Amino acid sequence: MITLKSQREVEQMERSSKILADIHIGLRDLIKPGIDMWEIEEYVRRVCKEKNVLPLQIGVDEGNYNPFPYATCCCLNDEVAHAFPRHQMLKEGDLIKVDMVLGLVEDGSVDVSKLDFDDAKSMVKYQEEFRGGVADSCWAYAVGEVSDEVKNLMDVTKECLYRGIEQAKVGNRIGDIGAAIQEYAEGKGYGVVRDLVGHGVGPTMHEEPMVPHYGRPGRGLRLREGMVLTIEPMINTGGWEIDHDGERGYVTFDGSLSCQYEHQFVITKDGPVILTSQG
Ligand code: LMR
Ligand code: MG
Repeated sequence: MITLKSQREVEQMERSSKILADIHIGLRDLIKPGIDMWEIEEYVRRVCKEKNVLPLQIGVDEGNYNPFPYATCCCLNDEVAHAFPRHQMLKEGDLIKVDMVLGLVEDGSVDVSKLDFDDAKSMVKYQEEFRGGVADSCWAYAVGEVSDEVKNLMDVTKECLYRGIEQAKVGNRIGDIGAAIQEYAEGKGYGVVRDLVGHGVGPTMHEEPMVPHYGRPGRGLRLREGMVLTIEPMINTGGWEIDHDGERGYVTFDGSLSCQYEHQFVITKDGPVILTSQG
């Protein structure tokens, strides 16, 4: 079912999104050569406890892992999505994508500082019962100095995100979003991941409609005021095909690099408004 969000629901999402965006801003300083990838997960967990925010990816049924055990997905280089944060030193030249879904608890129903994030099974209940504003955003980070190949991939992927969002206006169709992304990425010789797509958000983190990052203009569902969606293109320097590789999550099939940026936004009569904007 596709739900249109009320002003109140959008405002709740704005408050969660602000915290998420601030975390991404904090990660810009944290992520550098020589740190342990696990420090990213620790940082996110610490802010969640301080701000009474639920890390909603812990406890989610992600298909390959149910419940998913971590607050973040940390995808390195050829990793596309759902990779576990782990003890691994980040090296100069690495490309890391950090994805998270957060929900600010505003009704006093949960004291997040008391929760055991390491017990994913016990977190399922909070993940499922949460009824506040959900925020979902992934950002890519260059570790130290990166190659031109990495820089170009990051630039093109970010441009894909914004070209997709630009199409998310009342009267356009879902296919217009995917077509804009696919045309730009493939025009640069890159592959657009097909198997994982953007989605509606709220009341839970994955709602209808699905928002593919490929497609045909003028096709699919008509976009309406009040829809809250994510666009999260996963763009590969090689082919679009992916594989699953245990704790590394989805990886590119051909070992090429993959990048992702994701924003959550609301469609208003004046166009899309990005909720997870970093300012
Ligand atoms: C998403 O963007 O959908 C994610 O943060 C959650 C997931 O399961 O990939
Ligand atoms: Mg996400």
